[in-house]
Amino acid sequence: MVDIKSESDIAKMRVAGKLASDVLSMIGPYVKPGVSTEELDQICHDFIVNNQKAIPAPLNYRGFPKSICTSVNHQVCHGIPASTKILKNGDIINIDVTVIKEGFHGDTSKMYFVGEPSILSERLCKVTQECMYKGIEIVKPGLHIGDIGAVIQEHAHNNNFSVVRDYCGHGIGRNFHESPQILHYGIKNTGIRLQEGMTFTIEPMINSGKYKTKLLNDGWTVVTQDHSLSAQWEHTVLVTNNGYEVLTIRHEETGI
Ligand code: MF3
Ligand code: CO
Ligand code: CO
Repeated sequence: MVDIKSESDIAKMRVAGKLASDVLSMIGPYVKPGVSTEELDQICHDFIVNNQKAIPAPLNYRGFPKSICTSVNHQVCHGIPASTKILKNGDIINIDVTVIKEGFHGDTSKMYFVGEPSILSERLCKVTQECMYKGIEIVKPGLHIGDIGAVIQEHAHNNNFSVVRDYCGHGIGRNFHESPQILHYGIKNTGIRLQEGMTFTIEPMINSGKYKTKLLNDGWTVVTQDHSLSAQWEHTVLVTNNGYEVLTIRHEETGI
């Protein structure tokens, strides 16, 4: 069952979404060569708990040990922050933040360049962000959910990249992950239709090589099977009466 949010639920989702997006803005200046992903986790944790008076949703979620996910280079998603993982010039990193405020979740992630990116890294991150926006921009009541995946897949393939199939976007609200699943590949005019008041994430993971993934022995970190680079961007989106509202939009984002 897909939960349809009431006006008061939506007001809380806006607050949670804004807090999550503020964390991504706050952490940007700290993403530099020499910093460890554990330090980034600590800074985000303290900001969420002390400043925002909110809860970092990943911490202890199904046993996840940290407050954010940090996925570097060929890591696809769910990377665990570690003191031994020190960022170096040319790395790309996804930081994925989910906060809970007044019982509601906001979930968002973005890519950061550590120092100077390679031409390929820069193109992969840009195309992945475009994939996310292309999925978001078509959201409106009545849309078939398969259309979201179809436009994302089309843009990735046009750029000779592949779409991760093992992980997807999700409904979000009182729960971190709820119905419906939002696949980032698919066929137009298939799947359920969107309704006003639905809230879900669109969070494409795009690989520079093949789509297949592998789970590391830590039980969390997902990597590309062929060790190619992977990028991901994520927003939490509300279906409005005539389109969409991005609940995790940041100031720097324009033209959407
Ligand atoms: N934030 C991730 C998502 O977009 C989920 C992370 S689950 C965790 O759905 F346990 F790894 F934090
Ligand atoms: Co998510
Ligand atoms: Co997320």
